[in-house]
Formats: sequence, C-alpha cells, structure tokens
Amino acid sequence: MMRQPRLFVLFLSLALSTTFSVAGKPPNILLLLSDDLGYGELSSFGQQSFSTPNIDRLAASGIRFTDAYTGAPVCAPSRGVLMTGLHTGHAYIRGNNGNADGTDMHLRANDTTLPELLQSNGYHTSLFGKWGLGFNDTEGAPNVKGFDKFYGELDQANAHNMYPPFLWRDTEKEDLIGNVETKPSRERCMVANSGCNWTHDIFTQNAIEELENRAAEPEKPFFMFLSWTDPHAGGYTTTNAETGNPVPSAGDFANEADWPAVEQDHASVIQNYQDDSVGVILKLLDDLKLTNDTIVFFASDNGASNEGGLPETGFHSYNFFNSSGLLTGCKRSLYEGGIRSPTIVRWPGVVEEGVVSDFPWGFEDFLPTVLEIAGAEDVVKSNNFDGTSIVPVLQGGGGDRDRCLYFEFCTNINGVKSWGQAVRIGDYKAVTLSSEADLELYNLRKDPSEQVNLAGGDGVEEIMGNLKDCLEREHVDSEDFPKGDGVCRAS
Ligand SMILES: *[C@@H]1O[C@H](CO)[C@@H](O)[C@H](O)[C@H]1NC(C)=O
Ligand SMILES: *[C@@H]1O[C@H](CO)[C@@H](O)[C@H](O)[C@H]1NC(C)=O
Ligand SMILES: *[C@@H]1O[C@H](CO)[C@@H](O)[C@H](O)[C@H]1NC(C)=O
Ligand SMILES: *[C@@H]1O[C@H](CO)[C@@H](O)[C@H](O)[C@H]1NC(C)=O
Ligand SMILES: *[C@@H]1O[C@H](CO)[C@@H](O)[C@H](O)[C@H]1NC(C)=O
Repeated sequence: MMRQPRLFVLFLSLALSTTFSVAGKPPNILLLLSDDLGYGELSSFGQQSFSTPNIDRLAASGIRFTDAYTGAPVCAPSRGVLMTGLHTGHAYIRGNNGNADGTDMHLRANDTTLPELLQSNGYHTSLFGKWGLGFNDTEGAPNVKGFDKFYGELDQANAHNMYPPFLWRDTEKEDLIGNVETKPSRERCMVANSGCNWTHDIFTQNAIEELENRAAEPEKPFFMFLSWTDPHAGGYTTTNAETGNPVPSAGDFANEADWPAVEQDHASVIQNYQDDSVGVILKLLDDLKLTNDTIVFFASDNGASNEGGLPETGFHSYNFFNSSGLLTGCKRSLYEGGIRSPTIVRWPGVVEEGVVSDFPWGFEDFLPTVLEIAGAEDVVKSNNFDGTSIVPVLQGGGGDRDRCLYFEFCTNINGVKSWGQAVRIGDYKAVTLSSEADLELYNLRKDPSEQVNLAGGDGVEEIMGNLKDCLEREHVDSEDFPKGDGVCRAS
C-alpha cells in the first residue's frame, strides 16, 4: 500500500520534467519588466550619464539582445502582446485607451494568456506591480487570467500614482497607511521617513517575500512577473501633474547642479532604485540557491518616455540622457526608439555568458519561448500564436531572421489621429506613421537611426514587396481599433 503513492509522485515529477529540467523540474521564470525604460538607458546599452551595474552584470552572465522589440510603443497593448503571444495586428487590446466608460479594456475569457497556460502546466504564477489588462471584477483580472498571486496596480491610470492610498492584493483593496493624504507627496517620504509608501519598493519587497516562499516549495516551478511602474512619469503634486519620476530621493544625482530636478530624479530612479533592486533580487536568488534553475528575463514595455515634469522646474526630455541611444523617436513612435527594448536573458547552464545577439525578436515570442522551456510545446503547436520560440537562439543556434515582426499603432498629436504600421524582416524595416503616407524603408544594420529612406531606390523591390505582403497579411481588422488616420483610436 505504501508503494502506490510513491509511484504516483514519481509519475507526476516525470510529467513535469522537460528537456530543460533541473533536478526533475522545469526551470523557474522570473520576468523583470521596466516601464518606459529607453533603449539607451542601461550602461550595457550605451548610457553615459548614469550606470546600471547590476543589470549589466545580468547581461554579462547571459545574453544581451541588441535587436529585441516590445509589443507596441505604449504600455497596455505591449503588455497584452507579452501575455498573449499575439502581435498588435491580431490582438484584442491594440491601444492604451479604454472603453467608452473610461475603464481599461480587459482581456476576455477567450484571450489565452501565458500565466493561464503555465498554471495548468504545474507552475506557481505571481504578479507584482502593474497589470493594466483588466480591472478587478472583469474577465481580465489577474487572478482570473492565470495568476495565483497578485499584488499591485490593476489599471494604467492608478499606476501613475507611485504613492497611492491603496494597492490590490488579489481581489481586495489593501490600504497603504503611509499615504493618507488625498494627493500624496514624495516630500513626505524625504522628511525623516515620517511615513509614505512608494510602490517601487513595495512591489520589490513583495516579490522578495514570494521568492522566499517559492524556495520553500522547491518541487514546484514558478513564473514570477515583477512589473515595476518606473521610470515612467508619475503624479504627486496637488494638481496631480506628472512630475517626472517622483522617487523618494534624487540619490547620487542630488548635487548635479546643471541638471534639472526632473532629470536628477530620472537618473536616480534607474540607477539608485531599479538597478539596486535588480542587484538585491540577483543576490537573493543566489542566497536561496535558485540561480541555477531560474531563467531571468529583463525588458522594457516600450521606448523612452518624454513625459513628466513641471513648468517651474522643467519637463523631462528623452534627449537629455540620449535615452533612445542612436535610435530615432521614443515612446508612442513606430520608429525604433518607440519599440526596441534593452532585453537581457540569463539562463545558467544553457545561455553562454556574455553573448551579444542581434537576433530580431519581440514580445509575441515570449509566450512560445517560455512554454517550450516549461515543456509545453504541444500547447504552442495547437494554438495560433504569432510568436515563435527563441529557445534555439538562446542555446546558441540560429533562428529564423526572415520571419516578419509586425506593429500597428494610432497616435494623437494635437488632435490629429494617425494610424501607422511597422514591419521588420531581417535587416530591413518598413514603417509609416500615417495611413496616408508612403512606406519608408530602412536597412537597420547599416542605418539603425533610420535616416536614409531607401524606398523607391534600386535593388529594394523584392524586400519591399515582402515587407508590404507582411503588412497586409498580418493586419486583421478590429472593431475596437479601426485602421486609418482620423478614424483610429488614439492612445
Ligand atoms: C471572444 O469572445 C468575445 C466575447 O467576449 C467574442 O465577441 C469574440 O468573437 C470571441 N473571439 C473568438 C476568437 O472566439
Ligand atoms: C473585486 O471583484 C470581486 C469579484 O467580482 C468582488 O467580489 C469584490 O467585491 C471586488 N472587490 C472590490 C474591492 O471591489
Ligand atoms: C507604509 O508606510 C507606513 C509608514 O511608514 C508603514 O508603517 C507601513 O508598513 C508601510 N506599508 C507598506 C506596505 O510598506
Ligand atoms: C550552479 O551551476 C554551476 C555550474 O553551471 C555550478 O558551478 C554551481 O555549483 C551551481 N550552484 C548551485 C548552488 O548548485
Ligand atoms: C548624446 O549623443 C551625442 C551624439 O552621440 C553626444 O555628442 C552627446 O555627448 C551625448 N549626450 C549624452 C548626455 O550622453
């Protein structure tokens, strides 16, 4: 009688073990997502004015992707692509703007998500920080969409307040007693810690506690999504104006007399807080002996922010620190500066240390990649995800560089709504920021800044034809996000 349960346990662990298993268990996945971090805002991606030694160390112990993409040039659609494996030509959520009643659009029951699939494949799943894909009582709420544990911000708008009166713990509101004023101000944090709760620290602390829980249940693999709300601009003044980065302190940069306060804060939130937190988490993984069986992904949800600041103290500019590096544009643009992500993957024992890869891939590839790692390739095969697993690239092999990566997006600049599309195949990219404008063509290998438009030139007919085919093929009309200037739904 004693034998049967033991056999059963053995069977279960075999069922969960995959090609990539360590000690009979598929690897853990830790996704660290930055909010509006520019392509040029890590020192490993060229930043000169401040530094990110811990994130750089992550890159040095894994693979640094120079040509990886987000899902979209703004938050909600980008995160939707990340969670569903569908690009913005097929996704349900293609912009930040919510429903007519002002609430965020939410994922529906039939929008399959990565955490749902991992949960049904034996993973523990948790999310700390920003969700933005479904409010509490909707089909898109995090606990409905596959997270065993959630603590953070449900909607985009509240996430701008980094000193909120409450956060959501699963489906319940949990008060933050340090933030009692209706318009919490970071000044209160700076006065001798008199009380104030800053979301960056709270999200990080909750992730730390959950990593400790996970280490205590070593037989169960986990997926943890730590979704910070910085360096995104945030609001804290009495008028709720977005000040830039309302960090508790300008830290190492408080004495940079030539820098506007908003830029001191910007450098500080990245170097003194986000990078520090990455350091704390990497050390914790070591201490908990989780490093070898935890794959760490680091990325940003879209390009550099050019928002926040006050008239009296100056506005944040993405040019101040060359936040997009050599790339053109920033958040909200379909030029590379809006959609490329400084992406890093560390996978001990599989990814060689210190590799730099220019393989082009995007957020839609994250879901199939992680499912392959989890041993659920069959799930990928039986669904029509847009993405492709990049596991072969992580293993040091080649991937398909000639598949196309697709983006569409509607901007609203001074009331003028323009619908654009971008597509990349190999080294080439076609882009238009308006449905009325001609497609521009760039060779990103030779011209990463997208300065020399090759459209209409000699010898590009074939590649242009392939790019156009992809643009037409990958866009499926959406009632909620109609295509075309003027009629599109701007974010
Ligand atoms: C998903 O569900 C919605 C209703 O919430 C429905 O309108 C839509 O057609 C469904 N899509 C698919 C692909 O089944
Ligand atoms: C959140 O949604 C759940 C499910 O609909 C509901 O039971 C709960 O009351 C909601 N919580 C709040 C604080 O609105
Ligand atoms: C919020 O701040 C108060 C005052 O400093 C502190 O007592 C409380 O523990 C903090 N809450 C969290 C969740 O960090
Ligand atoms: C992690 O793996 C490396 C080799 O890949 C090995 O040297 C080290 O001892 C392992 N650490 C633990 C805690 O198992
Ligand atoms: C930004 O880039 C330009 C051109 O490469 C360079 O001259 C300038 O010094 C850089 N500025 C900063 C703050 O890194």
